[in-house]
Amino acid sequence: KPLVFSGVQPTGNLHLGNYLGAIRKFVALQANNDCIYCVVDMHALTAQLVHEDMPNQTRSITAAFLAAGIDPEKHIVFNQSAVPGHAELAWIFNCVARIGWMNRMTQFKDKAGKDREQASLGLYAYPSLMAADILLYRATHVPVGDDQKQHLELTRDIAMKFNLDYMEHIRRTGYGIDITVGDEPVHAYFPMVEPLIDGPAPRVMSLRDGTKKMSKSDASDLSRINLLDDEENISKKIRKAKTDPDGLPSEIAGLAGRPEADNLVGIYAALADKSKADVLAEFGGQQFSVFKPALVDLAVHALSPITTEMRRLMADPGHIDAVLRDGSARARARADVTMKQVRDIIGFLY
Ligand code: TYM
Repeated sequence: KPLVFSGVQPTGNLHLGNYLGAIRKFVALQANNDCIYCVVDMHALTAQLVHEDMPNQTRSITAAFLAAGIDPEKHIVFNQSAVPGHAELAWIFNCVARIGWMNRMTQFKDKAGKDREQASLGLYAYPSLMAADILLYRATHVPVGDDQKQHLELTRDIAMKFNLDYMEHIRRTGYGIDITVGDEPVHAYFPMVEPLIDGPAPRVMSLRDGTKKMSKSDASDLSRINLLDDEENISKKIRKAKTDPDGLPSEIAGLAGRPEADNLVGIYAALADKSKADVLAEFGGQQFSVFKPALVDLAVHALSPITTEMRRLMADPGHIDAVLRDGSARARARADVTMKQVRDIIGFLY
């Protein structure tokens, strides 16, 4: 049975990239799947050790999940540090993963900067904790933005090595499942996760530079639409968004070499639940002076109910904490089953 898991870090404000690349997909996946959505507070330490206001950052991501339409009763919403299995399994995965694998991670290279000797060991091991997040629940599907693709490939590598190295133990304990990898049948403990990166906006780009990812860390606030921006700000940022002088093409091929136009069309498509081709069928031949106001209307219509609801939820931290407490207890119960089996497989006495 498919099980969906994903996580969002409680660092900085959420932006349109987080929403279209991840949270909007989380909401849609609820209809046909069992879903677990996590605020990954332990991952947040890899970017910055001391946080001014970690509790409210955690609550704010939780509020965004709920405001966007995630149902914490039918599914699970919780924060990572409340379930010790994440750290326990991450340690085991640190021993499974190879240093050479970690050295290939482009996110580590970007985030560590020039002086790699000064980066934390946690930043280096980040992908191992991420693999633990997912595999602690033996999740099968992971909705994320395009920037997380390499980490999910590593998650598969870790799962595969664990499965092969412990094959005899997995057989002996009887906890295995039969899966196919490629065309090969494998008796495995951990499933091979499928990334869900599809859709028209897997990588939302900066509004100021269509070759750069929209990100929390960009110095210019005009580069991103924050989930807490008001109508006026959304409108201003879209009106000021960089474009080229041409109008919109009628076909996808016409977006090649036009990153800013491509980005705005992708955003429109994702917000409208359409394909980019549908959007171009509607707006092909029009100028940005026509398209941008339509995009403003659509964005405001889609985002302002979420913003309003987030603010309402944030006014009652007690309620959010109760949601997290309940979600954490249910996540812990599931995680405990996996950790007990993993201990048996490895041969740890408990
Ligand atoms: P984080 O917190 O940086 O981002 C949360 C989600 O938003 C997506 N995203 C984007 N999607 C499209 N365009 C963009 N410009 C953009 N910027 C961010 C990210 O891809 C992500 O899906 N490592 C993860 C958190 C994590 C996780 C996990 C995810 C920890 N454990 C287990 C899945 C499963 C991260 O840093 O996301």
